[in-house]
Order: sequence, then structure tokens, then C-alpha cells
Amino acid sequence: MINAKLLQLVIEASNDGIVVAEQEGEDNILIYANPAFQQLTGYPSEDILYQDCRFLQADDRDQAGLEVIREAVRSQKPCRQIIRNYRKDGSSFWNELSITPVFNEGDQLTYFIGIQKNVTEQVEALERVTALEAEVAALRNELTQLKMRQTE
Ligand SMILES: Cc1cc2nc3c(=O)[nH]c(=O)nc-3n(C[C@H](O)[C@H](O)[C@H](O)COP(=O)(O)O)c2cc1C
Repeated sequence: MINAKLLQLVIEASNDGIVVAEQEGEDNILIYANPAFQQLTGYPSEDILYQDCRFLQADDRDQAGLEVIREAVRSQKPCRQIIRNYRKDGSSFWNELSITPVFNEGDQLTYFIGIQKNVTEQVEALERVTALEAEVAALRNELTQLKMRQTE
């Protein structure tokens, strides 16, 4: 078994955000956030402890991925979704969020672990590819019509 000090060093060295949340009523409140989470979101630990992570969504709450997360958290199942989040300075990023419930030996939920990965570059690249594919399809269509007109 890895010792607690080493485990802490590893979590603090992680490039991705790692948080631990505890259930409190309808909320899952943060009891730990690693330095990468603070770097990614711009929120220092003391600003966000004991809050539910939904503050990262600002007013952008109508996202399909959030529905999946809500249901997974409610039924204590793991999930992974890409959602839009907002830093303390208001700038947005795409967060590939993985949430896993942790159970004790009595099979009772004790905590949730959340891992936040900034996938903004990948999502924006995919959006550009999708837009370019649509442009190519439109140009192909135009070309076909031009050829048809020439043969008439
Ligand atoms: C451990 C953990 C980490 C979470 N991390 C984030 C996060 O980084 N960004 C975010 O928008 N929501 C995060 N959430 C999800 C929200 O806390 C909340 O579950 C979600 O918004 C759905 O519930 P709601 O409709 O009550 O807001 C996290 C949840 C848990 C349990």
C-alpha cells in the first residue's frame, strides 16, 4: 500500500485537477482541491472549500452533459462528460470531468473524487474540423450542380 505522504505528493504533482467532495444534503461540497485545480480555475482553495463545484458553470447551466452528471451523482455511479466551465476571471474552458464515488467497507458512500482535464484545444480543433467538413460538403454540392449545368 502506498504511504499517505507519497500519495499526497503524487496528487499535488498531478497536471489535472483532483478534488474530493463530501455529500451534504443536495450538495457535494469540496473538502480538498489540488494545486492543478486552482491553476485551471483560478480559484484559490480557501475561496472554494465547502462549496459545490457547480459555481464553475456560472449561468451556463443548460448543458446536456450536466444532465448526465446530475443523474450519475444522484445514483452514486461514475461518469465522464465534457462540459463548459468558467474561471474566476470569467474566461471559459472545456472541462473533461470524471467523477467517481468512493464507498467504505460497509458499502456506504463516503466521498466523490473529481478529476478535471482541460480539453479546450481538442474541443476547438474538433469544432474547426466539423465546420471545415460542412464547407467541403457545400463546395462539393456546388461543383456537382455546376457540372450538371454544363452537361445540359
Ligand atoms: C467530486 C465532484 C467534482 C465535480 N467537479 C465539477 C467541475 O469541475 N465542474 C462542474 O461544472 N461541475 C462539477 N461537479 C458537478 C456539480 O457539483 C453538480 O453535481 C452538477 O452541477 C449537477 O448537479 P446540479 O444540477 O445540482 O448542479 C462535480 C461534482 C462532484 C461530485
